[in-house]
Amino acid sequence: MKEAERFRSVMSHFATGITVVTGADAEGQGVGLTANAFTSVSLRPPLILVCLANESRSREVFLATSRFAVGILRSGDEALAHRFAGDTRDARFDDLAFRTEVTGAPVLDRALAWLDCRLWDSVEAGDHTVLFGEVMACGVSGDADPLVFFQGSYRTVTP
Ligand SMILES: Cc1cc2nc3c(=O)[nH]c(=O)nc-3n(C[C@H](O)[C@H](O)[C@H](O)COP(=O)(O)O)c2cc1C
Repeated sequence: MKEAERFRSVMSHFATGITVVTGADAEGQGVGLTANAFTSVSLRPPLILVCLANESRSREVFLATSRFAVGILRSGDEALAHRFAGDTRDARFDDLAFRTEVTGAPVLDRALAWLDCRLWDSVEAGDHTVLFGEVMACGVSGDADPLVFFQGSYRTVTP
């Protein structure tokens, strides 16, 4: 097994949630992508991070506008995860309800939980960029189970 494959395989054993990270460009056009490289960083101030591939188109917009929102997906929303990772970028926002909170970044209405972030810092790290977000507002939208990603497939939490 090549080292990169081994690394990917090892990391796939770390179960994560799935998020959709969203923003809007200067013309108000929505951009966003599916991301599971997301975690909390600090309580005071409240900071999170998301790691985005350097070729991500959304990354450019988040850096240029200094804002983005994170929507934590609920169980059953595999299609949304698929959509925000797929080739049809221009259709990602179709027929979905968004709202704005503090920063103006579009917040996905149907997210299980959400965080509206101001870009706090960014660090290039290999072929990805770590975007740190200062949480300006956040909340929980419902009482559903989360969508889980483990060993390359979507799972649900079973108590
Ligand atoms: C389950 C899953 C998790 C992903 N996690 C990340 C991630 O953490 N960071 C990232 O840059 N891309 C991640 N991707 C890939 C992006 O969603 C995908 O490349 C997307 O098309 C990028 O869109 P953009 O170029 O419009 O920003 C993930 C894809 C899937 C299906």
